[in-house]
Formats: sequence, structure tokens, C-alpha cells
Amino acid sequence: MTAFDLTIIGLGYVGMPLAKEATAAGLRVAGLDVDPRKVDALNAGRSYIDDLTDADLDAMLSGGFTAMLDASVLSRSRTIVICVPTPLDEDHRPDLSAVEGATRTVAEHLQAGTLVVLESTTWPGTTDELARPILEQSGLVAGEDFHLAFSPERIDPGNPKFGLRNTPKVVGGYTPACKERAVAFYSQFVERVVPVSGTREAEMAKLLENTYRHVNIALVNEMAIFCDELGVNLWEAIEAASTKPFGFQKFLPGPGVGGHCIPVDPSYLSYTVRKLGYPFRFVELAQEINERMPSYVVARVQRLLNRARKPVNGSRVLLLGVTYKPDIADERETPAIPVAEALLELGAELSFCDPYVKKWSVEGTPVPREEDLAEAVAAADVVVLLQQHSAFDLDVVEERASLVLDTRGVLATSERVERL
Ligand SMILES: NC(=O)c1ccc[n+]([C@@H]2O[C@H](COP(=O)([O-])OP(=O)(O)OC[C@H]3O[C@@H](n4cnc5c(N)ncnc54)[C@H](O)[C@@H]3O)[C@@H](O)[C@H]2O)c1
Repeated sequence: MTAFDLTIIGLGYVGMPLAKEATAAGLRVAGLDVDPRKVDALNAGRSYIDDLTDADLDAMLSGGFTAMLDASVLSRSRTIVICVPTPLDEDHRPDLSAVEGATRTVAEHLQAGTLVVLESTTWPGTTDELARPILEQSGLVAGEDFHLAFSPERIDPGNPKFGLRNTPKVVGGYTPACKERAVAFYSQFVERVVPVSGTREAEMAKLLENTYRHVNIALVNEMAIFCDELGVNLWEAIEAASTKPFGFQKFLPGPGVGGHCIPVDPSYLSYTVRKLGYPFRFVELAQEINERMPSYVVARVQRLLNRARKPVNGSRVLLLGVTYKPDIADERETPAIPVAEALLELGAELSFCDPYVKKWSVEGTPVPREEDLAEAVAAADVVVLLQQHSAFDLDVVEERASLVLDTRGVLATSERVERL
């Protein structure tokens, strides 16, 4: 039976880049998932992750990487890293069912001497209060018989500069020995490992990072709304402010926040604070502002059309870019959905153009995809630039569109082109 240096549970946006770096560093790596389609695709050399090409995957498979559904591999693994999703449930509360499920599976196969690391973003205390008791149902004791740590994933899908290897990795152990073991493990393929005193500090570091982004995006979004009314060009003000070499970090307004992290993670923190009996006001305010942005975008589209004496009802509205980030295919939590829903509700004839999305539907209604940017832009009554994929020819948009709402601040403003 083959022994593995590492088994990664959850072969998604986080698990696969980890598998890639660990395999490249010479570790024998297995991947475990509950989705047979993903396991089959990976073993056949077909990647479904933006940051992992088929060529990367081929190199991994040649390096011994193998994906599987059979959890018995865990009993032959020196290190186990859990990278399963941590979404919100219907009531916007943390849904840790995947973490619980994966941890139970680990407990069933856990052997003495194993290092278990949780990487999924979660509320502070999860590793110690939720994962540890489940793992100890194996009869083994954390810190004595096996090592336990938390290390938040900081992967930024589509980022050409920073990947797993050159992004410092925060690690917190259940005991000092757990921390040392986890630091040694990650040091094999991450340039800089940052140890913290416990698992809670590591969990909180990740939530702080994402809450910081969420709050600062909300700040500029709220400013975008009143700057429009004040007649101030906020985009120019932000560029001016960001010339300050210290004490300021640039954030830009947009149609709302998307992705698996920014709209979701701060709720894990506000949920924890609510248990103390009071709200985390910064997060709740930021959520309120960011969630309002899609309807503000629609109001601005309405205003633009109104100036041209057109109602939204029956107007051809073209959405440019429907993913939550530029130059990737990830549509999770994209604000394009609430924008499209509201426009459809008002009777708009909607279509979209996105090189990364082949099919798109909103509340079960398929939205027609435009193949030719120039033709689609010329035919639309109004174009809404929601995501600035670099494949878009922005000159074409500026020259050919009747009206444009640019929610990303990348087009030159004119009689026909407005920025958010
Ligand atoms: N995507 C990002 O950019 C990003 C960045 C930083 C942190 N994170 C965090 O990392 C975690 C994972 O996110 P992701 O984006 O990789 O998710 P993902 O949905 O891309 O992948 C998760 C994988 O886990 C599998 N899975 C679910 N339950 C399982 C179980 N019980 N056993 C085995 N496999 C199981 C799913 O089938 C899926 O393949 C989340 O906590 C997320 O918040 C994500």
C-alpha cells in the first residue's frame, strides 16, 4: 500500500494549488474529494481550476499526484490538510457541515503521529472547539498522539504575482509542538511561514484580512453614491489619495462584492461576536452598504436611459463581464446576478458578454450570450461594464456604445459614458 506525505481533502480553488506546490516540492500527494466528477477529471488530466492548467496537472500526475474518493488513504498519510468549503446557510449563519463531515472522515482513519491541518476559513475557535473533539473520537489525543493546526489559505485566484509559494503562510498550532510540526511542513514549499501562538489567532488573522477588505470596499462604495450627488469625481480623488506613500491603501468602488470570501467570511466573525450579545457594527454596516450596490447600479442604469427618454422596459441592456473578478471564470456570489435580476424584473431585454462564461442564467432564466463584442455594444441601448476582463477591447466600448455605465472606472467619461 502506497504511503503519502500529504492528503488534501477538498480539491477546489484552495486544495489544488496546494497539491500543485507540494507535488512540485517532491512530496507524494493524494487528493480526496466527495465529488466523483472532480476526481475523474483530475485523474484524466482535465483541470477545472483557473490557476491550474492542464499542463500543470499533467506534471502533477507524473509527479505521483492522484485524486480519489476512497478515504482509507487517510490512514496512510503523514499529513492531512482540510480545504473544504465554509459557506453560509439559508439564514446567513456559518455552515460548517463540510468541515464537520471531512473531520469525521479523518477521525475514522486517524493514525498516531499524523499532522492534521484545517485551512478552511472559519470562526475563531473552530479548530479547538469543533475539529479537535471530533478527531479525538478516534481515541487519539491532540498534541500527544497527533498534531493539530490551523493555517488560513490566502489564495487569490487569477493573481499572476502572488501564489501559494510566495505568499507568507500563517500557522497556529494547538500546542507549541503542533505549531513546530506545521511550520516544518509548510516550509517545504512556502517561502515564508509566519507562526502565531495558537489556532484562534491564525483563524482570526484570516477573518481580519477579509473584513478589512470588506469594510474598505464599503467605504468607497458609500462615497461613490454621495460623490455622484456632490458632483465630485471620486475616482480621481482616490488616485490622488493613493499617491501618499504611507498610511493609505487604495480600494475602488464597484457593483458589489463577490466570490467565496469577501461577502461570506465577515459573517463568520459577526456570528461569533453576536454570541457575546452585541453586534459587530463595522461588518454589519459594510454588509448593508455592499449589498445595496447592485440596486444602486440599476438605479443609475435607469437614470441613464431616462435621459435618453427610454424606459428600462423593453430596452436592450448588455452586461459586460459577469464573474466576480477580472480574468477568471469564477461566478460565485457575483453581484452580476442581483443586477441582472433587478433589470429583468423591470422588463429589460438582457444579454451578456463574457469570454470566461459560456452559459449564464438568472433565477432559471437563460440570458443570451453575445459572441461579438463590437456588434453587441453597438446594438445595445445601454452597456453596463460590470467586470473589466482584459480581453475586452475598451476602445470599442467607448466608441460604439450609445450609453455606458462603467462600474469599474476604466473608461474615459464622456456625454455617453458615465462612471459609477
Ligand atoms: N476560493 C478562494 O479564493 C479562497 C481563498 C482563501 C480561502 N478560501 C477558503 O478555503 C475553503 C475552500 O474553498 P474553495 O474555494 O477551495 O472551495 P471549492 O468549492 O472550490 O472546493 C471545495 C471542495 O471540497 C469538496 N468537499 C466538500 N465536502 C467535502 C468532504 N466532506 N470531503 C471531501 N471533500 C469535500 C468539494 O467537492 C469541492 O471539490 C473555504 O473555507 C474558503 O473560504 C477560499
